[in-house]
Amino acid sequence: MGRRIRYLASVVSTNAAAKELADAGEPDGTVVLADEQTGGRGRSGRDWFSPSGLGVWASIIVRPGLDAKRLAGLGIATAVALADAMGRDFGIDARVKWPNDILAGGRKLGGILVEAAQVAGDTIESAVVGIGVNVGIEPDAFPEELRATATSLATVAGRPIDRLLVLETVLSAFKGAYGRYAAEGAESARERWRDLSTTLGRVIEIEDAGRVVAGTVIDLSSEGALVLEGADGRAVEVWHGNVVAIRPK
Ligand code: BTN
Repeated sequence: MGRRIRYLASVVSTNAAAKELADAGEPDGTVVLADEQTGGRGRSGRDWFSPSGLGVWASIIVRPGLDAKRLAGLGIATAVALADAMGRDFGIDARVKWPNDILAGGRKLGGILVEAAQVAGDTIESAVVGIGVNVGIEPDAFPEELRATATSLATVAGRPIDRLLVLETVLSAFKGAYGRYAAEGAESARERWRDLSTTLGRVIEIEDAGRVVAGTVIDLSSEGALVLEGADGRAVEVWHGNVVAIRPK
């Protein structure tokens, strides 16, 4: 993992570049890293603000041979490991908002976009785990629409942070998470997820393709779904979507 790093000063999206490399046979564990992305991608078709030299914008090629359904859990396991490691290495209180957002002080510090690259039937032959961490972006430097919800490591820590140290944290956290996930699935991240989750025990609404599901978050399933208890008391598993509202119970 990370023994092969393909560095680009500027690229449209490290995820797009990594997918092309995966298609061309690039080995498991290759990291595609850029100083700047001109068309960085976020979840649900959103853009990811990726200014030059101010964040870690990286994508890791994996060849997990996993069932397609289990890719979502890999994103969650990665987010949990990353929040944990950033807390430990940089002395901040980082949390996970389902599925893959890394928050500090309620604002978004980083995100993860897992995309399948080569699929054979139900099996993912290769995938790309894209990780974005805002490192040195000043509050005023975010685009207007992100200013109220985004933050960076330097802002949260209250001191400049070396991007290379963040890259090391990201790669070693991912390496550990991927190994545990390959052996034990989402179960491997469940306990820490419960500690770090911003939604556990809260009443939330999740929107997915125009449908809204509401309920109290009671757990992460052993397969990586969010388990909600609906108003009728029944447990429902949710696999996709965006949390659009969070309230105390
Ligand atoms: C999200 O929270 O919406 C996911 C953001 C993922 C951003 C990273 S930055 C590196 C990689 N390349 C991309 O185009 N996106 C991911």
